[in-house]
Amino acid sequence: MESIKVALLGTGTAGGGTFRVLARNQEEITRRAGRAIEISLVGARDPGRARRVVGEGVRIEPDLLRAATDPAVEIVVELIGGQERARELVLAAIAAGKHVVTANKALLAHHGNEIFAAAQAAGVTVAFEAAVAGGIPIIKALREGLSGNRIEWIAGIINGTSNFILSEMRDRAVTFEAALARAQALGYAEADPSFDVEGIDAAHKLSILSAIAFGIPMQFSKIYTEGITRLTAADIRYAEELGYRIKLLGIARRSAAGIEMRVHPTLIPTRRLIANVEGVMNAVLVQADAVGVTLYYGAGAGAEPTASAVVADLVDVTRLHTADPENRVPHLAFQPNALASTPILPMSEVRTSYYLRLQVLDQPGVLADITRILADRSISIEAFLQKEPRAGQAEADIVVLTHQTLEKHVDAAIASIEALATVLGRVTRIRVEALG
Ligand code: HSE
Repeated sequence: MESIKVALLGTGTAGGGTFRVLARNQEEITRRAGRAIEISLVGARDPGRARRVVGEGVRIEPDLLRAATDPAVEIVVELIGGQERARELVLAAIAAGKHVVTANKALLAHHGNEIFAAAQAAGVTVAFEAAVAGGIPIIKALREGLSGNRIEWIAGIINGTSNFILSEMRDRAVTFEAALARAQALGYAEADPSFDVEGIDAAHKLSILSAIAFGIPMQFSKIYTEGITRLTAADIRYAEELGYRIKLLGIARRSAAGIEMRVHPTLIPTRRLIANVEGVMNAVLVQADAVGVTLYYGAGAGAEPTASAVVADLVDVTRLHTADPENRVPHLAFQPNALASTPILPMSEVRTSYYLRLQVLDQPGVLADITRILADRSISIEAFLQKEPRAGQAEADIVVLTHQTLEKHVDAAIASIEALATVLGRVTRIRVEALG
């Protein structure tokens, strides 16, 4: 059978990796897909650079729109990143009847609903395994492997850069700034690291995971997002003393009132496997009613892990190319006319446990005031840590771990505690998840 023709847009890290993996594993990939998959066209704004990546024998088109709509190709792989240009190219490819494979989580988080609707109308597929957790086949697992289950919650380490920084802060007892500088020196963090360290990249990925897990539209703007920039070495140390490790988690949970979607630093019991995912690695924990807990672990970024996911999508798309569009696996796992309008809970209605750290004057009655404020709001204390004031100082650190309560009760308690004359500065609040 004739090979299926692919246009590759972008020859950066992911594009170069995809080209290399397809070439290296061509024979096995063909045996799996049923026909050869051939990158016959490369769209690249810098043709000289692209030529160095893909070598001779492949047509290079500097006009990306032309490449995305070229009549000779059946699949377009979008690996240029960014939002507006990528959206334009993907929609043009869909309008021209091409299937699309993309690794672009920002694109899907912001424009996924529009893109999937366009693909549905055009009878083509948009595949995006590489958009979440790099090489881990988590999209496939949620969309197909777990399709017999009611998914209850997902908790994922889905930003490798932040996880690397947290590992560094713990292992080397360094500040956030020092750990970030090392991540940048090693090439893990971008020169502008805000997408990673502010939790935005993780929120992009969480909006995709939530849609697939719960059969809801993409709703990036409703995700509560808090990054790791304010974490201190002291918090990491105190968490360890209490038997916890701090991770930046993306959490999506179904409750009676609606769906929680949140990205924030989280204390996890050290004995959980996911608490021991270190460095740039990713992991996603899924709780589902029939199977129970499953854990997916692997490289969340990098040339060949990303290529692994992109090529798997190419194989899938090649297999279903001839299938009747009505009988294909739906983009977001659930049939497009069966998406639910389940409300997304505001953060104030989220129920979880809390780590609170405060600096107090070491004098009588301070603890009594704090515990009374918590008790008045029915917040029960699970553990408590008081650190001796340093020599010559009058201030002591206090750490309180609470049982589960509503976020709005903790907000109110924190406001009252901060108003006490004996409490210095702001209360640090980190959420705690048992993940049991
Ligand atoms: N910047 C991401 C991370 C990888 O650090 O995990 C691409 O999403």
